[in-house]
Amino acid sequence: MSRLAEALRTRRLLITAGSGGVGKTTTAAALGVEAARMGRRVAVLTIDPARRLAQAIGLEALTGELRRVEPALFAAAGLEAPGELWAMMLDTKTTGDQMVRRFAPNPQMARRILDNTYYKYFSTSLSGAQEYMAIEQVRALVEEGGFDLVILDTPPAVHAMDFLEAPDRMLDALDSSAIQVLVKSQQVSDNLAGRLIGKGRGLVLRSLDRMTGGPFLEDLGEFLAVFATILDALKHASERLKALLRADDSRFCLVTSPKRSNVDEAMHFQAELAERGFNFEGFIVNRVHMHYPDTGTGPEHDGHLLGELAGLLPELTDGERGALLQGMRRAFSAHNNMADRDGRAIEHLAGAAGEAPVRVPLMPLDVRDLAALHRVGRWLLKA
Ligand SMILES: Nc1ncnc2c1ncn2[C@@H]1O[C@H](COP(=O)(O)OP(=O)(O)OP(=O)(O)O)[C@@H](O)[C@H]1O
Ligand SMILES: [Mg+2]
Repeated sequence: MSRLAEALRTRRLLITAGSGGVGKTTTAAALGVEAARMGRRVAVLTIDPARRLAQAIGLEALTGELRRVEPALFAAAGLEAPGELWAMMLDTKTTGDQMVRRFAPNPQMARRILDNTYYKYFSTSLSGAQEYMAIEQVRALVEEGGFDLVILDTPPAVHAMDFLEAPDRMLDALDSSAIQVLVKSQQVSDNLAGRLIGKGRGLVLRSLDRMTGGPFLEDLGEFLAVFATILDALKHASERLKALLRADDSRFCLVTSPKRSNVDEAMHFQAELAERGFNFEGFIVNRVHMHYPDTGTGPEHDGHLLGELAGLLPELTDGERGALLQGMRRAFSAHNNMADRDGRAIEHLAGAAGEAPVRVPLMPLDVRDLAALHRVGRWLLKA
């Protein structure tokens, strides 16, 4: 069994990452198709998939909603899938507000936080809430979705780190002095708010109320009390998420094109992942020019090929078929030169990685339906 087939069988979270446009989303979807064919219940979480690919897995304009790829779609593609393939486009437009809703103990409490004047101020110190909430959806699915496997597609490499480190940054933010002050004041807040509000107001406080256009202190007291209720839940989830991304059965598949510059980026990205404690599954080189079989060049080959062309294109003259054959040879040879160049980049990668990367050929058409995903998938799982 190939390494990726084994990974589909045994891992819980696979993450496809790499530079822009190399095929991360396609790879994630193709791995999902193969996992479902192997009988697993799998969810593919993607970000901004190309429109056609989204349609291939039944995600037309959906955001943040998990949908099963209809078994009929598999049947129509001539594929048997004893497992289940689910897909969802991660919602990357969530805000701190949604985070409050997610972690508040109840909707009433969430409302009170969101309506509070101070929330607007503190929400700015929760920067990164968007990335955090996007990746929090992954944790919820892995831990609570009942899936055998979750496959996560990521944004292009530069942003992927932002995304993957969101829980780390959230934990840092929660430990930051601003939040700590908040927590501490909360611990005395009954006291504090009570004292401030209870005692009636002096001139200064009354004018402050006027300036801020509202019950300044009541708001503060309330904010300290209610906001603290989400901090523990948020911190706990951040810690679990941070650990989940680094768990032994969570693995990164680094996708690259065979372009030397992309290959170098992928190697660099691998080093960065290792530095941050993420586990690596393997490299996938996508859109590789494979060598055309050698058609021979001697006169006897020419004779044979011209004979074939005569059968296919009887309306052409001998001269035209000769010119066509020359053109085809030039096209083959140009393609094979690209295949040589790709081969050198792949060798370079294999040398550095200590093992041959998985290769997926450049397909003649865009990958846009389940059948095409399965063609990619067959290469991904090739032993
Ligand atoms: N092996 C392949 N052969 C032919 N076309 C491919 C192959 N792999 C991917 N494609 C096509 O290349 C395009 C980009 O692929 P994809 O969207 O998977 O890349 P990506 O890495 O997710 O891009 P982004 O960084 O923008 O998220 C798509 O149109 C896809 O159909
Ligand atoms: Mg993509």
